[in-house]
Amino acid sequence: MKRFLNKNILITGAANGIGKATAFRIACEGGNLALIDNNSEKLKELCKNLEHFSIKVVSSVCNVSDFEEVKKSIDKLAEELDGINGLSHNAGILRVYKTHEMSLKQWNELIAVNLTGTFNVNKHALPWLLKNKTSYLVNTSSSASEQPHPWLAAYAATKGAIKSFTRSLFIEYFQQGLHANCVLPGGITTDLANSFAIPDGVNINLIKTLNPLGQKLFAEPERAASVIAMLLSEDAEHINGTEIAIDGGKV
Ligand code: NAI
Repeated sequence: MKRFLNKNILITGAANGIGKATAFRIACEGGNLALIDNNSEKLKELCKNLEHFSIKVVSSVCNVSDFEEVKKSIDKLAEELDGINGLSHNAGILRVYKTHEMSLKQWNELIAVNLTGTFNVNKHALPWLLKNKTSYLVNTSSSASEQPHPWLAAYAATKGAIKSFTRSLFIEYFQQGLHANCVLPGGITTDLANSFAIPDGVNINLIKTLNPLGQKLFAEPERAASVIAMLLSEDAEHINGTEIAIDGGKV
């Protein structure tokens, strides 16, 4: 199946985890890639590993929370590939804090990367996406945006805002052919998920109540990548302004 032949897909947070798995999935299906990450070493390594695919790969080291840097990177990558057909905005950070102990600086960091980063990337990618008759935009929220979760209040707030933002984009641009959807990953085994450390003094039994269905708690990044790829493809022609959870099922 080569759903992305002659298509150019922009992925942020591409150097690791879900973004990296998405890059490989798109490459396997013949799509050209524009890759953004702030980790230059890992981005370089990924580009090298993509060399054996018969596709174009361009990349830019960029911090998504920097408005001007994002504009420069996206414009450069889009010009190199001659356009962008789809965006997977995936760059994000997880921070675990007891809310009453969290500083304003820590709050601002989450807002800057997860929320302002989403605005920066979407805003600067939209002019390119809207040049196409049909285009696909997939933002990355989190299962934490729906399921209350201890120590993640600030993170969950950024991820909830990404959902509202994306639904609004749908209504703003669907007449121009934009499909704007979110994925809500949960329990995807990446460095980010592994960094989830339970703060001292918290009752460990609480975590066990979070998945009362007792379904599989963890899945490989490829499970998320396949859903993101679907939402970036023509298979998502009749999907717009909504969210798909990729979390094994929770109540
Ligand atoms: P990861 O940590 O493995 O990968 C995130 C990538 O984003 C890294 O390559 C990192 O260098 C990049 N990045 C971080 N800050 C950046 C910045 N300021 N500018 C540019 N690049 C930046 O994490 P993972 O798990 O692949 O997460 C991807 C997305 O999925 C994130 O938005 C995360 O919040 C979301 N998510 C993941 C879940 C999981 O279970 N792994 C659960 C819920 C949401």
